[in-house]
Amino acid sequence: MKFFIDTANLEQIKEMQDLGIIDGVTTNPTLLSKEGAEPIEQLKKICEIVDGPVSAEVIGLKTEEMVKEARELAKIAPNIVIKIPMTKEGIKAVKILESEGIKTNVTLVFSQNQILIAAKVGASYISPFIGRLMDNGQDEIDMLWESMQIINAYDFKSEIIVASIRNARHVIEAAKMGAHIATIPFAVLEKMFVHPNTEKGLKAFLDDWEKLKNQLKS
Ligand code: G3P
Repeated sequence: MKFFIDTANLEQIKEMQDLGIIDGVTTNPTLLSKEGAEPIEQLKKICEIVDGPVSAEVIGLKTEEMVKEARELAKIAPNIVIKIPMTKEGIKAVKILESEGIKTNVTLVFSQNQILIAAKVGASYISPFIGRLMDNGQDEIDMLWESMQIINAYDFKSEIIVASIRNARHVIEAAKMGAHIATIPFAVLEKMFVHPNTEKGLKAFLDDWEKLKNQLKS
């Protein structure tokens, strides 16, 4: 399973890259706006840190606008992937861009039917937003389960990026279902490292080691 980090923050990306646990990055207009930097420059810096796919989202709503923007964004670096919203106009753009060798990530996906459509037109990646489904009181785990069944039942090339992850349990659920990728916020990645028994156990080992050294001295 691949881990992407869902942020445009350079320090967070560097920290997880140094730990060797991330395979790519996803951004969106909200995440870039949080950083307050010029977005193209920020994306360039991200691509210098990470070799894997880096998703950058288009703003236009019409197919022609999306395609034009995507071609410009794709010039930033070879690992740029274009995030396209799950709309009719977006789906037309996906088809054009994929035929030109520009990889796409269909975003704002909330249903199994949307997954099926995005896979049919050959999107490289599809991002179901499971946290926002959960926020709405919908069963995000069931949606993901059925989506993976659909993707695995056919020879679709699309990889599922489980997105809008709210907690460490979401990552486990995604892994259990064999989702290709989880894009995980920094705070959740940090939580995944921690268990109280690890800290407690380490302290006990070191205390006992000290005790032994003192016994041997006396
Ligand atoms: O990758 C998509 C993600 O950024 C959306 O997450 O937390 O805004 O629902 P969220």
